[in-house]
Amino acid sequence: MTSDRASWASRVGFVFAAVGSAVGLGNVWQFPFQTGQNGGAAFLVVYLGVVLAIGFPAMLTEFVLGRRSQRNPVDAFAALGGGRWRVAGGIAALAAFWILSFYSVVGGWVIRYVVGSATGAYFDAPTTYFSEVAATGPDAVAFHLVFMAVVVAIVAGGVEDGIERSTKLMVPSIVVLLVALAVWATTLEGVDAAYAYYLSPDLATVRANLASILPSAVGQAFFTLSLGMGAMITYASYLGEDDSLPVDGGVIVVLNTLVGLLAGFVIFPILFALGVDPGSGGAGTAFVTLGGAFAQLPAGRLLGTVFFVVLLLAAVSSAISLLEVTVSVAVENTAWSRRRAAGTLGGACAVLGVPSAFGHLAWFNAVAYELLLPLSVLGVTLYVGWVLADDATAELERGASVATPSTAWLWFVRLVVPVGIGLTLVLGVQSLLVRAGVLTEAVLLA
Ligand code: PHE
Repeated sequence: MTSDRASWASRVGFVFAAVGSAVGLGNVWQFPFQTGQNGGAAFLVVYLGVVLAIGFPAMLTEFVLGRRSQRNPVDAFAALGGGRWRVAGGIAALAAFWILSFYSVVGGWVIRYVVGSATGAYFDAPTTYFSEVAATGPDAVAFHLVFMAVVVAIVAGGVEDGIERSTKLMVPSIVVLLVALAVWATTLEGVDAAYAYYLSPDLATVRANLASILPSAVGQAFFTLSLGMGAMITYASYLGEDDSLPVDGGVIVVLNTLVGLLAGFVIFPILFALGVDPGSGGAGTAFVTLGGAFAQLPAGRLLGTVFFVVLLLAAVSSAISLLEVTVSVAVENTAWSRRRAAGTLGGACAVLGVPSAFGHLAWFNAVAYELLLPLSVLGVTLYVGWVLADDATAELERGASVATPSTAWLWFVRLVVPVGIGLTLVLGVQSLLVRAGVLTEAVLLA
């Protein structure tokens, strides 16, 4: 199988696919919801710091591992002589599978909002429609199954063309639509308060809430950059020598962060205008606010339909890469055909998603954010930083068109990233225990 592995037709093919993977529900749904839940600007500063100091260097470790090994995330370690480290690849594949289960439920909500925009179903009660109608129950399961079926069908058919084409359309359209909505949002009542909430961090708040902000910020950075799930390892394994990993990584990080920031410029003003407390919206934040906006806007049905169709494209292109991770592991390690692997794994993942469609999504999300993603990124960075070491810097420099501070990067990967993640893990476990009622309150950094 490895002899006839796919590769990207062009350098932009990789960048497009990686951006397609990164830009998704994480930016438009998850980012505003995490920001709202964690106090607005206080979260935003920590999150941006984490993207730069942990997310970007960690993304380069996945690129280095993928391109050097030319293997799927589980076999990548063994191929470079680190057989025991396969566990890290296994956690990554598990994380991809776990996340797809609830990602697909949210994808189902998006499909429902496409329909609901076209028919105006939520226009009379945009604030209650989400929680009372869309979020949970048998219908939510049905829409989740439809979303998963689409993803399975695309992955079963092989992905390269589809991903590249849909990303070329999706990224520019999502940026244009979000900019238009953000401009409209400046006219809303309460916009100044919304900007203050979103953009003026108060350091005392940051300090007081660091124990909960940090794990969420790290989890959000990994989720939105598609790290810790093997997706970037897989995509980089199809890369040739003449690509510049630091430049490609920089483009992906900047574009992806921009889309998330833009979503905040749309969602927070609408929340304030609707009089909804940003911390209270939970997983419904994006749907309630966007629904509220389309219900008021002229040509709201048309605009809403277009917007949610574009969001659906973004969600599908991310979900494809999530399923592709486990499918590539299965196909390269068993006698299964691609179709069979996609059908079986997608089906099993659909079943795992059912509890999320019945109201348990927050728990699945927290396990992914606070446990699986940090663990898996930690494994990859320790391996690349301490085991690959000089090979890693050589790989980073190979084909780099710009001067690469690879030694500085290596030390970031060896020290800063693991320390950050280690702290996150401890805090994350603490917050899971608090959530489960084992601990009554946080003790560390409290
Ligand atoms: N980054 C994607 C998003 O923000 C989610 C994702 C993670 C997709 C990992 C693929 C792999 O929606």
